[in-house]
Amino acid sequence: MAGVANQNILLGVTGGIAAYKSVELARLLLKAGARVRVVMTEAATRFVSPLTFQAVTGHPVRSSLFDEEHEAAMGHIELARWADQMVIAPASADFMARMALGLANDLLSTLCLASASSIAIAPAMNQRMWQHPAVQRNLSRLEERGVRVLGPASGEQACGDTGPGRMLEPTAIVAALETASSEGLFAGEKVLITAGPTHEAIDPVRFIGNRSSGKMGYALARAFQHEGADVLLVSGPVSLPVPPGVNCINVQTALQMHEAVFENIDTVAIFVGCAAVADYRPENPQHQKIKKLSDRMDISLVRNPDILAEVATLEEGPYTLGFAAETQNLAENAQAKLLAKQVDMLAANSVGGDVGFDSDENALLVLWSEGEKHLPVQNKQQLAESLLRILADQYGRDE
Ligand code: CTP
Repeated sequence: MAGVANQNILLGVTGGIAAYKSVELARLLLKAGARVRVVMTEAATRFVSPLTFQAVTGHPVRSSLFDEEHEAAMGHIELARWADQMVIAPASADFMARMALGLANDLLSTLCLASASSIAIAPAMNQRMWQHPAVQRNLSRLEERGVRVLGPASGEQACGDTGPGRMLEPTAIVAALETASSEGLFAGEKVLITAGPTHEAIDPVRFIGNRSSGKMGYALARAFQHEGADVLLVSGPVSLPVPPGVNCINVQTALQMHEAVFENIDTVAIFVGCAAVADYRPENPQHQKIKKLSDRMDISLVRNPDILAEVATLEEGPYTLGFAAETQNLAENAQAKLLAKQVDMLAANSVGGDVGFDSDENALLVLWSEGEKHLPVQNKQQLAESLLRILADQYGRDE
């Protein structure tokens, strides 16, 4: 994607005093070369007249899901397909809650579910509302789903309070939308990320697996995508949606993951091994379900290839970022793995407690040959973004 020029941008406006600023936002997006359609919630129409947006964009504004005339001209599913990007500004606390729950009780919330495009929100609300745990929880859920959150800014509010909750200025919103697509930290770079567990068959119904949820790998895929990279995810079996704009090859076993990685490795600049690849697989997976005929059974296991180590030792290979999941002696084990696998950077985390596998939060110790940095406990999306900034520095690109 190159900037917002020639992009179809669906501007969602929800109910809040900052809605008046979105008129300027629509104008700036048009000026930057985007095609803009506006959808308002019912509450938004109480703050600004749809006619104002119609006058600025030259297109009728939609606010109802059941508008026969508009549905005949461009149905809501067609509108969802039309959008290359959705930006919701202002995004009220109520709308964020509805989005987080996946409700489809008006046109705009329905479009959020029906569109495959990326979604950015610019929250705006009273500072106490913004800091309320319920709002923060919805925010985390949306971030995890790959929704990009722009702002809010801090300062004096329309209600007289001072604090975080002001909608970002329209110029800042346009700048953020432009940056993500053309000037991100990894704009134009091709990145391959492995994620999730692998399942190694014992027989047709049983497998050896592990507790990886894939959340960190998927968070990294979203973060790279936001920073302008062309992302290929090679994913083991997880129950997460593929982030919009990311390509994904689904695999089950370590051998399939190995094959998918090496079919594509020549084309990528950065490789991130985030998958919890099974180190061993059953030597002779049975073709029929194993019956319980004896009191004991032994399964003979053989080593799987180490995908990360093989990529890291390629002669003209990509920059490599590996992960290490450790239950003890984090720093020593991580340092040893950095050297043993010859990766450029290693992100180590403790597993086995409250954080780590399947958790929404984690902390990382990031190591590379000349340095290290500790990233404290935070949600995995924020963690992915912090990790990318360190990676960008070491990879030799600047913000
Ligand atoms: N990895 C891989 N292929 C494997 C095993 C691991 O690509 N067969 C990658 C993982 O994606 C991760 C890193 O290697 O980036 C470390 O995985 P981890 O399980 O923590 O370490 P191991 O190398 O398996 O070492 P050990 O299990 O002995 O701690």
